Amino acid sequence: MNVLVIGSGGREHAIVKALKKSDRISRLQCIPGNAGIAEDAECIQHSLEPAAIAQYARENGVDFVVVGPDNQLADGMIDALQAAGIRAFGPVRAAARLEWSKRYSKEIMAKYHIPTAAYQSFTDLDAAKAYVQQQGAPIVVKDSALALGKGVTVAQTIEEALTALDAIFDRPSGAEVVIEEFMQGMEVSIMAFCDGKTAAMMLPSQDHKTIFDGDVGPMTGGMGVIAPFPLTDEQKERIQSEILDRLMAGMQQEGIPYQGVIYPGLMLTPQGPKVVEFNSRFGDPEAECILPLLESDLLTIMEACVDGNLTQDMVQFSTDASALVILASPGYPASSTKGIPIQLPVVPEHSIIFHAGTALKDGQLVSNGGRVLAVQARGEDLTEAVTRAYQVADAIQFEGAQMRRDIGGRLGIKVRV
Ligand code: GLY
Repeated sequence: MNVLVIGSGGREHAIVKALKKSDRISRLQCIPGNAGIAEDAECIQHSLEPAAIAQYARENGVDFVVVGPDNQLADGMIDALQAAGIRAFGPVRAAARLEWSKRYSKEIMAKYHIPTAAYQSFTDLDAAKAYVQQQGAPIVVKDSALALGKGVTVAQTIEEALTALDAIFDRPSGAEVVIEEFMQGMEVSIMAFCDGKTAAMMLPSQDHKTIFDGDVGPMTGGMGVIAPFPLTDEQKERIQSEILDRLMAGMQQEGIPYQGVIYPGLMLTPQGPKVVEFNSRFGDPEAECILPLLESDLLTIMEACVDGNLTQDMVQFSTDASALVILASPGYPASSTKGIPIQLPVVPEHSIIFHAGTALKDGQLVSNGGRVLAVQARGEDLTEAVTRAYQVADAIQFEGAQMRRDIGGRLGIKVRV
Protein backbone atom coordinates (compact mmCIF):
# COMPACT_ATOMS: atom_id res chain seq x y z
CA MET A 1 0.00 0.00 0.00
CA ASN A 2 0.97 3.59 -0.62
CA VAL A 3 0.54 5.46 2.70
CA LEU A 4 0.81 9.20 3.36
CA VAL A 5 1.23 10.75 6.84
CA ILE A 6 0.46 14.44 7.39
CA GLY A 7 2.47 16.40 9.98
CA SER A 8 5.98 17.41 11.01
CA GLY A 9 6.38 16.72 14.75
CA GLY A 10 7.59 13.99 17.08
CA ARG A 11 4.10 12.48 17.03
CA GLU A 12 4.22 12.04 13.26
CA HIS A 13 7.76 10.61 13.49
CA ALA A 14 6.42 8.01 15.95
CA ILE A 15 3.46 7.23 13.64
CA VAL A 16 5.81 6.87 10.65
CA LYS A 17 8.18 4.56 12.57
CA ALA A 18 5.28 2.38 13.75
CA LEU A 19 3.76 2.19 10.26
CA LYS A 20 7.15 1.35 8.77
CA LYS A 21 7.05 -2.00 10.62
CA SER A 22 4.06 -3.06 8.50
CA ASP A 23 5.02 -5.40 5.68
CA ARG A 24 1.93 -4.27 3.75
CA ILE A 25 3.32 -0.79 3.08
CA SER A 26 5.29 -0.47 -0.16
CA ARG A 27 5.58 3.33 -0.16
CA LEU A 28 5.54 5.62 2.89
CA GLN A 29 5.39 9.39 2.40
CA CYS A 30 5.07 12.31 4.79
CA ILE A 31 3.98 15.91 4.14
CA PRO A 32 5.91 17.93 5.23
CA GLY A 33 7.94 15.76 7.69
CA ASN A 34 11.25 16.82 9.26
CA ALA A 35 14.93 15.82 9.20
CA GLY A 36 14.35 12.66 11.25
CA ILE A 37 11.19 11.58 9.44
CA ALA A 38 13.16 11.89 6.19
CA GLU A 39 15.24 8.88 7.32
CA ASP A 40 12.09 6.74 7.58
CA ALA A 41 9.78 8.08 4.85
CA GLU A 42 9.84 10.20 1.69
CA CYS A 43 9.24 13.78 2.85
CA ILE A 44 7.42 16.08 0.46
CA GLN A 45 6.95 19.84 0.67
CA HIS A 46 3.40 20.61 -0.40
CA SER A 47 0.46 22.86 0.47
CA LEU A 48 -1.38 21.63 3.59
CA GLU A 49 -4.68 22.99 2.35
CA PRO A 50 -7.19 20.06 2.55
CA ALA A 51 -8.23 20.18 -1.13
CA ALA A 52 -4.57 20.33 -2.20
CA ILE A 53 -3.72 17.26 -0.08
CA ALA A 54 -6.71 15.38 -1.54
CA GLN A 55 -5.53 16.26 -5.04
CA TYR A 56 -1.96 15.17 -4.22
CA ALA A 57 -3.24 11.84 -2.87
CA ARG A 58 -5.38 11.23 -5.96
CA GLU A 59 -2.64 12.13 -8.42
CA ASN A 60 0.03 10.06 -6.61
CA GLY A 61 -1.88 6.83 -6.10
CA VAL A 62 -2.06 7.18 -2.29
CA ASP A 63 -4.23 4.40 -0.78
CA PHE A 64 -4.40 5.56 2.84
CA VAL A 65 -3.74 8.86 4.64
CA VAL A 66 -3.05 9.41 8.35
CA VAL A 67 -3.62 12.98 9.56
CA GLY A 68 -1.65 13.78 12.74
CA PRO A 69 -2.17 17.41 13.85
CA ASP A 70 -5.29 18.92 15.41
CA ASN A 71 -5.38 21.99 13.15
CA GLN A 72 -5.48 19.95 9.95
CA LEU A 73 -8.32 17.84 11.41
CA ALA A 74 -10.15 21.04 12.39
CA ASP A 75 -9.61 22.33 8.84
CA GLY A 76 -11.54 19.34 7.48
CA MET A 77 -8.70 17.41 5.87
CA ILE A 78 -10.40 14.03 6.48
CA ASP A 79 -13.62 15.36 4.94
CA ALA A 80 -11.71 16.52 1.81
CA LEU A 81 -9.95 13.15 1.47
CA GLN A 82 -13.19 11.21 1.94
CA ALA A 83 -14.90 13.38 -0.68
CA ALA A 84 -12.07 12.47 -3.06
CA GLY A 85 -12.66 8.75 -2.35
CA ILE A 86 -9.43 8.29 -0.36
CA ARG A 87 -9.40 6.28 2.87
CA ALA A 88 -8.14 8.49 5.67
CA PHE A 89 -7.53 7.92 9.39
CA GLY A 90 -8.78 10.64 11.75
CA PRO A 91 -12.07 12.28 12.72
CA VAL A 92 -14.05 14.40 10.27
CA ARG A 93 -14.23 18.12 11.13
CA ALA A 94 -17.62 17.76 12.90
CA ALA A 95 -16.21 15.02 15.18
CA ALA A 96 -12.88 16.82 15.73
CA ARG A 97 -15.01 19.63 17.17
CA LEU A 98 -14.62 17.79 20.49
CA GLU A 99 -11.16 19.39 20.50
CA TRP A 100 -11.58 22.60 18.48
CA SER A 101 -14.54 23.81 20.55
CA LYS A 102 -14.18 23.30 24.30
CA ARG A 103 -17.76 24.57 24.74
CA TYR A 104 -19.12 21.88 22.36
CA SER A 105 -17.05 19.26 24.15
CA LYS A 106 -18.52 20.25 27.54
CA GLU A 107 -22.04 20.20 26.09
CA ILE A 108 -21.53 16.65 24.77
CA MET A 109 -20.16 15.55 28.16
CA ALA A 110 -23.13 17.07 29.98
CA LYS A 111 -25.65 15.54 27.54
CA TYR A 112 -24.21 12.01 27.73
CA HIS A 113 -23.34 12.02 31.44
CA ILE A 114 -19.59 11.83 30.96
CA PRO A 115 -17.91 12.82 34.24
CA THR A 116 -16.16 16.21 34.04
CA ALA A 117 -15.73 19.45 36.01
CA ALA A 118 -18.70 21.82 36.48
CA TYR A 119 -18.45 24.75 34.02
CA GLN A 120 -19.97 27.80 32.38
CA SER A 121 -19.11 29.23 28.93
CA PHE A 122 -19.04 32.91 27.97
CA THR A 123 -18.67 35.10 24.89
CA ASP A 124 -18.81 38.31 26.94
CA LEU A 125 -15.72 39.41 28.88
CA ASP A 126 -17.60 41.28 31.64
CA ALA A 127 -19.92 38.34 32.30
CA ALA A 128 -16.92 35.98 32.41
CA LYS A 129 -15.12 38.25 34.89
CA ALA A 130 -18.22 38.51 37.09
CA TYR A 131 -18.47 34.69 37.15
CA VAL A 132 -14.81 34.37 38.20
CA GLN A 133 -15.33 36.91 41.00
CA GLN A 134 -18.38 34.98 42.19
CA GLN A 135 -16.69 31.54 42.05
CA GLY A 136 -13.30 32.52 43.49
CA ALA A 137 -9.96 30.72 42.98
CA PRO A 138 -8.46 28.29 42.23
CA ILE A 139 -10.34 28.17 38.94
CA VAL A 140 -9.60 27.03 35.38
CA VAL A 141 -9.91 29.37 32.38
CA LYS A 142 -9.91 27.80 28.90
CA ASP A 143 -9.93 29.37 25.47
CA SER A 144 -12.73 27.46 23.71
CA ALA A 145 -10.81 27.48 20.43
CA LEU A 146 -7.64 25.56 19.46
CA ALA A 147 -4.67 27.29 21.10
CA LEU A 148 -1.72 24.90 20.52
CA GLY A 149 -1.56 23.86 24.17
CA LYS A 150 -1.44 27.46 25.41
CA GLY A 151 -5.16 28.11 25.93
CA VAL A 152 -5.56 26.80 29.48
CA THR A 153 -4.79 28.68 32.71
CA VAL A 154 -5.10 26.97 36.06
CA ALA A 155 -5.48 30.20 38.03
CA GLN A 156 -4.48 30.08 41.69
CA THR A 157 -5.82 33.63 42.26
CA ILE A 158 -8.73 35.68 40.93
CA GLU A 159 -6.23 38.18 39.46
CA GLU A 160 -4.54 35.41 37.48
CA ALA A 161 -7.92 34.30 36.09
CA LEU A 162 -8.87 37.87 35.14
CA THR A 163 -5.52 38.35 33.35
CA ALA A 164 -6.08 35.10 31.43
CA LEU A 165 -9.55 36.30 30.39
CA ASP A 166 -8.14 39.63 29.18
CA ALA A 167 -5.57 37.78 27.08
CA ILE A 168 -8.17 35.49 25.48
CA PHE A 169 -10.60 38.34 24.73
CA ASP A 170 -7.82 40.51 23.26
CA ARG A 171 -8.80 39.34 19.78
CA PRO A 172 -10.63 41.53 17.27
CA SER A 173 -12.55 38.48 15.99
CA GLY A 174 -14.17 37.84 19.39
CA ALA A 175 -13.64 34.91 21.73
CA GLU A 176 -15.36 32.24 23.76
CA VAL A 177 -14.17 30.88 27.09
CA VAL A 178 -15.01 27.91 29.24
CA ILE A 179 -14.55 28.51 32.98
CA GLU A 180 -14.34 25.36 35.05
CA GLU A 181 -14.21 24.17 38.59
CA PHE A 182 -10.62 23.27 39.66
CA MET A 183 -10.18 19.49 39.99
CA GLN A 184 -7.74 17.93 42.43
CA GLY A 185 -5.88 14.73 41.59
CA MET A 186 -3.33 13.07 39.32
CA GLU A 187 -3.57 13.79 35.60
CA VAL A 188 -3.49 10.84 33.20
CA SER A 189 -3.53 10.69 29.40
CA ILE A 190 -5.75 8.05 27.83
CA MET A 191 -5.68 7.47 24.09
CA ALA A 192 -8.05 5.09 22.32
CA PHE A 193 -8.48 3.92 18.74
CA CYS A 194 -12.11 4.41 17.64
CA ASP A 195 -14.14 3.04 14.75
CA GLY A 196 -17.38 4.93 15.46
CA LYS A 197 -18.76 2.28 17.84
CA THR A 198 -15.82 0.73 19.69
CA ALA A 199 -13.04 2.55 21.55
CA ALA A 200 -9.97 0.38 22.23
CA MET A 201 -7.69 1.90 24.85
CA MET A 202 -3.93 2.19 24.40
CA LEU A 203 -1.57 2.16 27.39
CA PRO A 204 -2.41 4.83 29.98
CA SER A 205 0.37 7.40 30.31
CA GLN A 206 1.32 10.57 32.16
CA ASP A 207 2.61 13.74 30.52
CA HIS A 208 4.62 16.49 32.29
CA LYS A 209 3.29 19.73 30.90
CA THR A 210 5.20 22.58 32.50
CA ILE A 211 8.68 23.59 31.37
CA PHE A 212 10.41 23.23 34.75
CA ASP A 213 10.90 20.38 37.23
CA GLY A 214 8.40 20.14 40.05
CA ASP A 215 5.49 21.07 37.73
CA VAL A 216 6.23 24.77 37.79
CA GLY A 217 6.66 27.38 35.05
CA PRO A 218 4.72 28.02 31.86
CA MET A 219 2.70 25.28 30.15
CA THR A 220 4.27 23.56 27.14
CA GLY A 221 3.00 20.98 24.66
CA GLY A 222 4.49 18.34 27.01
CA MET A 223 8.06 17.76 28.26
CA GLY A 224 8.09 14.04 29.03
CA VAL A 225 5.94 10.96 29.48
CA ILE A 226 5.92 7.65 31.29
CA ALA A 227 3.81 4.61 30.37
CA PRO A 228 2.06 2.56 31.49
CA PHE A 229 0.61 4.76 34.22
CA PRO A 230 -0.48 2.31 36.95
CA LEU A 231 -4.30 2.45 36.93
CA THR A 232 -6.36 0.05 39.02
CA ASP A 233 -8.72 -2.37 37.24
CA GLU A 234 -11.63 -0.37 38.64
CA GLN A 235 -10.23 2.88 37.22
CA LYS A 236 -9.72 1.24 33.81
CA GLU A 237 -13.24 -0.16 33.84
CA ARG A 238 -14.75 3.23 34.75
CA ILE A 239 -12.72 5.03 32.04
CA GLN A 240 -13.97 2.53 29.46
CA SER A 241 -17.62 2.47 30.51
CA GLU A 242 -18.24 6.00 31.84
CA ILE A 243 -16.07 7.94 29.39
CA LEU A 244 -15.13 6.09 26.20
CA ASP A 245 -18.27 3.98 25.71
CA ARG A 246 -20.58 6.88 26.58
CA LEU A 247 -18.73 9.12 24.13
CA MET A 248 -18.94 6.54 21.32
CA ALA A 249 -22.68 6.04 21.90
CA GLY A 250 -23.29 9.78 22.28
CA MET A 251 -21.51 10.74 19.06
CA GLN A 252 -23.41 8.00 17.20
CA GLN A 253 -26.65 9.46 18.56
CA GLU A 254 -25.52 12.91 17.36
CA GLY A 255 -25.12 11.41 13.86
CA ILE A 256 -21.34 12.03 13.98
CA PRO A 257 -19.72 8.63 14.69
CA TYR A 258 -16.21 9.22 16.04
CA GLN A 259 -13.42 7.54 14.05
CA GLY A 260 -9.70 8.03 14.68
CA VAL A 261 -7.91 8.53 18.00
CA ILE A 262 -9.71 10.09 20.94
CA TYR A 263 -7.42 11.32 23.69
CA PRO A 264 -9.16 12.37 26.87
CA GLY A 265 -6.93 14.10 29.38
CA LEU A 266 -8.26 12.84 32.72
CA MET A 267 -8.07 13.81 36.36
CA LEU A 268 -8.18 10.94 38.85
CA THR A 269 -10.35 12.66 41.44
CA PRO A 270 -11.56 11.19 44.74
CA GLN A 271 -14.95 10.69 43.00
CA GLY A 272 -13.34 8.78 40.11
CA PRO A 273 -11.84 9.63 36.70
CA LYS A 274 -13.15 12.89 35.20
CA VAL A 275 -12.44 14.41 31.78
CA VAL A 276 -10.25 17.52 31.74
CA GLU A 277 -10.49 17.83 27.94
CA PHE A 278 -10.95 15.77 24.80
CA ASN A 279 -8.30 15.84 22.08
CA SER A 280 -9.12 14.45 18.66
CA ARG A 281 -5.68 13.00 17.82
CA PHE A 282 -2.67 11.19 19.27
CA GLY A 283 -1.07 13.09 22.15
CA ASP A 284 2.33 14.60 21.53
CA PRO A 285 4.61 13.42 23.20
CA GLU A 286 2.39 10.54 24.42
CA ALA A 287 2.52 8.93 20.94
CA GLU A 288 6.33 8.87 21.02
CA CYS A 289 6.26 7.11 24.40
CA ILE A 290 3.55 4.55 23.66
CA LEU A 291 3.73 3.60 19.97
CA PRO A 292 7.17 1.91 20.32
CA LEU A 293 5.46 -0.61 22.65
CA LEU A 294 2.61 -1.39 20.20
CA GLU A 295 2.92 -5.03 19.13
CA SER A 296 -0.05 -5.07 16.75
CA ASP A 297 0.21 -3.75 13.20
CA LEU A 298 -0.68 -0.03 13.32
CA LEU A 299 -1.91 0.04 9.72
CA THR A 300 -4.31 -2.85 10.38
CA ILE A 301 -5.74 -1.05 13.44
CA MET A 302 -6.11 2.22 11.53
CA GLU A 303 -7.85 0.49 8.63
CA ALA A 304 -10.24 -1.20 11.08
CA CYS A 305 -11.06 2.24 12.54
CA VAL A 306 -11.85 3.58 9.07
CA ASP A 307 -13.80 0.45 8.04
CA GLY A 308 -15.79 0.21 11.30
CA ASN A 309 -14.61 -3.26 12.34
CA LEU A 310 -12.26 -2.58 15.27
CA THR A 311 -12.18 -5.07 18.14
CA GLN A 312 -10.52 -4.68 21.56
CA ASP A 313 -8.11 -7.58 20.98
CA MET A 314 -6.66 -5.93 17.85
CA VAL A 315 -4.73 -3.48 20.07
CA GLN A 316 -1.89 -5.31 21.86
CA PHE A 317 1.08 -3.76 23.68
CA SER A 318 4.33 -5.12 25.07
CA THR A 319 4.44 -5.54 28.85
CA ASP A 320 7.60 -3.36 28.96
CA ALA A 321 7.62 0.14 30.44
CA SER A 322 8.49 3.23 28.41
CA ALA A 323 9.82 6.68 29.26
CA LEU A 324 10.19 9.74 27.08
CA VAL A 325 12.21 12.93 27.64
CA ILE A 326 11.91 16.07 25.49
CA LEU A 327 14.84 18.29 24.57
CA ALA A 328 13.51 21.77 23.84
CA SER A 329 15.32 24.76 22.38
CA PRO A 330 16.33 27.79 24.48
CA GLY A 331 13.41 30.19 24.97
CA TYR A 332 10.68 27.52 24.71
CA PRO A 333 7.72 27.79 25.30
CA ALA A 334 7.64 31.59 24.80
CA SER A 335 9.80 31.32 21.68
CA SER A 336 12.03 28.85 19.88
CA THR A 337 15.62 29.03 18.70
CA LYS A 338 16.31 27.70 15.24
CA GLY A 339 19.62 26.70 13.70
CA ILE A 340 21.45 25.34 16.80
CA PRO A 341 23.74 22.46 15.69
CA ILE A 342 22.93 19.05 17.19
CA GLN A 343 25.12 15.93 17.38
CA LEU A 344 23.30 12.67 18.07
CA PRO A 345 24.98 9.72 19.82
CA VAL A 346 24.86 6.11 18.69
CA VAL A 347 21.43 4.99 19.91
CA PRO A 348 21.18 1.70 21.83
CA GLU A 349 18.57 -0.86 20.78
CA HIS A 350 16.28 -0.06 23.72
CA SER A 351 15.95 3.58 22.69
CA ILE A 352 14.65 5.76 19.84
CA ILE A 353 15.35 9.45 19.22
CA PHE A 354 12.29 10.95 17.55
CA HIS A 355 12.66 14.30 15.79
CA ALA A 356 10.09 16.90 16.80
CA GLY A 357 11.53 20.12 15.39
CA THR A 358 14.70 19.54 13.37
CA ALA A 359 16.07 20.46 9.95
CA LEU A 360 19.22 19.82 7.96
CA LYS A 361 21.32 22.91 7.14
CA ASP A 362 24.23 22.24 4.80
CA GLY A 363 24.19 18.62 5.95
CA GLN A 364 24.23 19.54 9.67
CA LEU A 365 21.28 18.61 11.92
CA VAL A 366 19.92 21.79 13.57
CA SER A 367 17.06 22.82 15.83
CA ASN A 368 13.98 24.03 13.97
CA GLY A 369 11.28 24.55 16.60
CA GLY A 370 10.39 24.66 20.30
CA ARG A 371 10.36 20.96 21.09
CA VAL A 372 13.30 19.58 19.12
CA LEU A 373 13.97 15.94 20.06
CA ALA A 374 12.01 13.27 21.95
CA VAL A 375 14.15 10.52 23.50
CA GLN A 376 12.27 7.30 24.23
CA ALA A 377 13.57 4.23 26.04
CA ARG A 378 11.98 1.00 27.11
CA GLY A 379 12.83 -1.16 30.11
CA GLU A 380 11.52 -3.97 32.27
CA ASP A 381 10.08 -1.35 34.62
CA LEU A 382 9.72 2.44 34.75
CA THR A 383 12.96 2.90 36.70
CA GLU A 384 14.93 1.14 33.97
CA ALA A 385 13.08 3.00 31.19
CA VAL A 386 13.62 6.44 32.80
CA THR A 387 17.30 5.68 33.53
CA ARG A 388 17.92 4.63 29.93
CA ALA A 389 16.05 7.62 28.46
CA TYR A 390 18.20 10.07 30.46
CA GLN A 391 21.41 8.21 29.55
CA VAL A 392 20.65 8.71 25.84
CA ALA A 393 19.34 12.28 26.29
CA ASP A 394 22.51 13.26 28.20
CA ALA A 395 24.68 11.97 25.36
CA ILE A 396 23.09 14.40 22.85
CA GLN A 397 25.13 17.52 22.11
CA PHE A 398 22.73 20.46 21.81
CA GLU A 399 23.87 23.82 23.26
CA GLY A 400 21.30 25.38 25.61
CA ALA A 401 18.79 22.50 25.39
CA GLN A 402 16.08 22.53 28.05
CA MET A 403 15.15 19.17 29.58
CA ARG A 404 13.16 18.28 32.68
CA ARG A 405 15.05 15.97 35.03
CA ASP A 406 12.05 14.65 36.95
CA ILE A 407 10.04 12.65 34.41
CA GLY A 408 8.27 9.92 36.41
CA GLY A 409 8.97 11.79 39.66
CA ARG A 410 5.30 12.13 40.60
CA LEU A 411 5.18 8.33 40.92
CA GLY A 412 8.45 8.31 42.87
CA ILE A 413 10.40 7.01 39.85
CA LYS A 414 14.04 8.11 39.93
CA VAL A 415 17.03 7.53 37.68
CA ARG A 416 18.99 4.52 38.96
CA VAL A 417 22.48 5.54 40.09
N1 GLY B 1 0.49 16.06 25.47
C1 GLY B 1 -0.40 17.13 25.28
C2 GLY B 1 -1.09 17.15 24.00
O1 GLY B 1 -0.80 16.38 23.10
O2 GLY B 1 -2.03 17.94 23.84
